[in-house]
Amino acid sequence: MSETMNTTLEKLGVGRITRHVFMCAGPKCCDGEQGQKAWEALKSEIAAQGPGEGGGICFRTRVGCLRLCQQGPVVLVYPEGTWYGGITADRVPVLVQRHVREGVPVGEWVLAENPLPVAGPVVPLSGRS
Ligand code: FES
Repeated sequence: MSETMNTTLEKLGVGRITRHVFMCAGPKCCDGEQGQKAWEALKSEIAAQGPGEGGGICFRTRVGCLRLCQQGPVVLVYPEGTWYGGITADRVPVLVQRHVREGVPVGEWVLAENPLPVAGPVVPLSGRS
C-alpha cells in the first residue's frame, strides 16, 4: 500500500471508527434545501460534540439515496443499523447527542432497526498482510 494511502487512512481514522452515520439529503425523500441544511448540521454537530464515552471516531457519509425516498432526510446509523426518517437540521443535535455520543437510538424518530452481524474485531487496513 502506498504511503499516500496509509496517510489518508490514518488521517480519516480508519481502524478507530466506532460509528458510521449515512445521510440521504434528497432530493426525492425531502426538499433539497432542507436536506442540505440537515447535512451541514450533521457535519458540524459531529465535529462539535466529538466522540462519546470510550472515544472512537464517528464517520459520516452523504449518500445519493437510501432507497426509501420518503420521510427524509433519511439517516442510517451503524453498527446498530438504525434507520431514521425526518431528520431535519433542528433534530440533528439531539440525534448526535443521544445516538452518536450516548449510543441510545432516538426512538420516536426510528423507522426500522437492522443491526448487522458482528464480524469480529476491527483490524486497521495497514495491519493486514
Ligand atoms: S432520495 Fe433520499 S432515500 Fe431516496
